[in-house]
Formats: sequence, structure tokens, C-alpha cells
Amino acid sequence: MSFNLRNVLISDEVDDKCVDILRSNGIEVVKNTKLSKEQLISEIPKYDGLIVRSATKATADVIAAATNLKIIGRAGTGVDNIDCDAATKKGIIVMNTPGGNTLSAAEHTCALLMAMSRNIAQGTESLHQGRWDRKKLMGNEVNGKTLAILGLGRIGKEVATRMQAFGMTTIGFDPITPPEVAASFGVKSMSLDEIWPLADYITVHTPLIPQTKNLLNDTTLSKCKKGVKVINCARGGIIDEDALLRALESGQCGGAALDVFVQEPPTESPIIKHPKVTCTPHLGASTLEAQSRVAEDIAKQFVDMVKGKELFGA
Ligand code: NAD
Ligand code: MLT
Repeated sequence: MSFNLRNVLISDEVDDKCVDILRSNGIEVVKNTKLSKEQLISEIPKYDGLIVRSATKATADVIAAATNLKIIGRAGTGVDNIDCDAATKKGIIVMNTPGGNTLSAAEHTCALLMAMSRNIAQGTESLHQGRWDRKKLMGNEVNGKTLAILGLGRIGKEVATRMQAFGMTTIGFDPITPPEVAASFGVKSMSLDEIWPLADYITVHTPLIPQTKNLLNDTTLSKCKKGVKVINCARGGIIDEDALLRALESGQCGGAALDVFVQEPPTESPIIKHPKVTCTPHLGASTLEAQSRVAEDIAKQFVDMVKGKELFGA
């Protein structure tokens, strides 16, 4: 399959490598990261291709207005911001770049886990405010603790091997990854009900789908050890934020490290202000290396498409 791709709109901050590769292959590129939804709807009919990261929402009404659009590319892993059903119904191909930011997201997860364990953010904040909170900010070692990894795909696997180097025991759940595959990277597969009472830390690395929405909720958190710590560097909504807040207040949850939120930015959410929460503004993939890789990957995938090479993506 090949087709003519005259021009592409890049509507989010994607590394310029993407522009360079597309232009050097004869594809006209317009980069405009300032479009409102209404402006995008009025501009989109001009384009054959659209490349987004996460800010642009390629919703059904945007897709309905896209009379010439043949392909949407996401310079990232999840395609949550693209209405894939609406695109498929119109025959528009949706591509992503799974893998390009895996290592960055895994490193960020480990950084959040360690920062939470040692109160790095709270310590920085206290110094900024002129305090010297040594007694208040007692942490804990991760060595010898049990880390439960829910979702043993690309990122879950990389988190496991990194935290094993810190002396953590890694257990996990994934309905698709076979136990022998998990064992090959040092993770003992278990059912969720076996996991809850064993975990000192729980990190989620699943997509946000009906089966994973509110996976950590009042009921499942109550089955955990008192003081369990949780990390979400996957998608907002896998952990029920209201339930998490209640568990933090009661002490059932001893700390949370969050990179993603139900609503982004989470300006109104009390969760980001809680003293036991370490948080970052969806920075999992925000490294020069990951952004360079996903920009190159999506541009090459577009070019391959034009040249009729095999398609790639999740
Ligand atoms: P992946 O597809 O490689 O792995 C996801 C795993 O989840 C799969 O192995 C799948 O079998 C498993 N899974 C599906 N349903 C499950 C369930 N009900 N319970 C447990 N496991 C289940 O994906 P990935 O590349 O590892 O990405 C993981 C998540 O991280 C995605 O949500 C992705 O969007 C997100 N992500 C976030 C950032 C960030 O900036 N914070 C960066 C990259 C990816
Ligand atoms: C992804 O799905 O790749 C991440 O959420 C990171 C991003 O939005 O760039």
C-alpha cells in the first residue's frame, strides 16, 4: 500500500528532526503548535497528514472536518488523544511510535519511586522555604522491599530490571505476558489478589482501558499492606484519585508518585497538593533522547508509507 502525501501539519511540539526528514523526502510541512480546536477544524481540510504528541486532541469532530486526511501520527506511545474509531471509519491510518520513549518513561518511574522514598521533592521545597526539615523527612530504603508491577510490557520490564539493581523483589500481573516471559526478566507473575497483601510498592504500566480504569481503588487499596506506596507514570485514571486521596489521609497509602492525572493539567485536583505526593507534569517521555527518537520514528514511518513499505505501530 502506498499513497501520495503532499503535506503534513505538525500541531504539537515535536522535535525538528521530524520536519527535516519529511521535507528531505519531498513532503511539505507546516508546524503550528498554537491552534485552538476551532482553528484546527478550519485548517485540517488542507492537509493529507497530521502529526501530534499529546496536546492536540484529534477528536471525532476534528476528524469529520478532515476531508483530505489520510494519516495521523502520534510521536509517542498511547493514542488516547486520537479518536481511532472515527479515523478508521473514514479510512484514515493511525500510527504511533511504541518503544521510542520506553527507556525515558522507565527511568522516570524509577526516579519517582526513589524520590518518593527519600522525600526529595519535599526536601527541596523545605529548603526553598528556608527550612531544614531533617527529622520530618525520614525516608525508607527500597532494598529488600517488594515492588508489584501491573503491566509487564515494554516499560514494566525496564522498570523491573532497574529496580532489581536496587535490591527490590519484583512481582507482577499481566493478563497477556506469559509467566515464563516475566520470569525471564526476574518478575514472578501472580494474580492481583495474591499481589495486594505482598506489595510494599505498586507501579502501574498498563494502557488506560475499561479493565484498568480505577484498577487501584478503595477496595484494592484496602487489600494492600498499610503504608503501601504507589506510582503512576502510565495514564491518569488507572489509579482512582479520590480513593488515593482517602488512602493517603488514612495512612493506608504511605505515599504516591504521579506523572499523569485524570485531568491534565490537574489544576483543580487536591491530589497534587498533598504532602505525601511527589508529582511531575507528564514528563515521562520528556527527554532530548526520547523526543529525538519518536520524532525520527514517526517521520520515517510516514516516509515508508509513501514509499509503500511495511506499516509499523501499535
Ligand atoms: P505496552 O503495551 O508495552 O505494555 C502494556 C502492558 O499492559 C501489556 O503487556 C499488556 O498486556 C498489559 N495489560 C493490559 N491490560 C492489563 C491489565 N488489565 N492488567 C495488567 N496489565 C495489563 O505499553 P508500554 O509502552 O509499556 O506503556 C505503558 C503505559 O505507559 C501506557 O499507558 C502508555 O501510554 C504509558 N506511557 C506514559 C509515558 C509518560 O510520559 N508518562 C510515556 C510512555 C508511555
Ligand atoms: C506517550 O504516550 O508516549 C506519553 O504519554 C508521552 C507523551 O505524551 O509524549
